[in-house]
Amino acid sequence: MLHADPPHRIVEFLATAGVETLLGDEPVNRLAQPVKESVADPVPANRQSEGDIRPTPTATAPAAPDDAAMTARQLASSAPDLDTLRALLDQFDGCALKSMATRLVFADGNPEGRVMIIGEAPGRDEDEIGRPFVGRAGQLLDRMLAAIGLDRSQVYIANIVPWRPPGNRTPTPQEIAICLPFIQRQIELAAPDFLITMGAPATQNLLGQREGILRLRGRWFDYQTGGHDRPTRTIPALATLHPAYLLRQPAQKALAWRDLRSLKARLEQG
Ligand code: URA
Repeated sequence: MLHADPPHRIVEFLATAGVETLLGDEPVNRLAQPVKESVADPVPANRQSEGDIRPTPTATAPAAPDDAAMTARQLASSAPDLDTLRALLDQFDGCALKSMATRLVFADGNPEGRVMIIGEAPGRDEDEIGRPFVGRAGQLLDRMLAAIGLDRSQVYIANIVPWRPPGNRTPTPQEIAICLPFIQRQIELAAPDFLITMGAPATQNLLGQREGILRLRGRWFDYQTGGHDRPTRTIPALATLHPAYLLRQPAQKALAWRDLRSLKARLEQG
């Protein structure tokens, strides 16, 4: 016999999938609409949540990815401090995600902290509030930090992509490549003693790894800062599982707990 999901489960599922509006104010006759495929649309149609009604960027066409990445590198490397970097990022129009997001989500916590944590991209709550990791995944992150005696006054938190991808999809490799110079500069300017990359996109793109996160987690890597205007530094970087993944796979929390203990041990070494 089939068991139908109760309605609240379906609504919960749709909300997690990024569907924010089920019905528009006006009826739409989709049969009367021409089928059109835009080659300029930077968001693959099959990955965009149907219920996501935020506009796709048509008013100002984004620069070609190579140009955008080059502008990003120039802007990011010109920032002498984190406030300037944030202002430059806020003005940067090279990433199409910006026009679909509500606001820039730059960082939270203490930029003087010894630990810098880097996630993937803002979700709906972060997009509304403008701070990383304030939703359910963020609450789990706070509990994970508390388990090793840390809180947001001791860590600095950012994402590899600072604008929310529609429907909370994974940022595309192109979006990540365009935003990468900014997070790299953010790391260089914050100059933490330890980096924690959470999830595959942050780990693979910052640490130059290709394996999956379940193979990479728990391992320490050397992260090399850019150093065009200051000496290069090697920062020990630990890959771990993303709290959003742990919410879906609670049995894997034991692995994350192992990673956190490894961080704690390093912090205690001085
Ligand atoms: N997930 C992330 O990777 N970053 C956030 O800021 C929130 C959820």
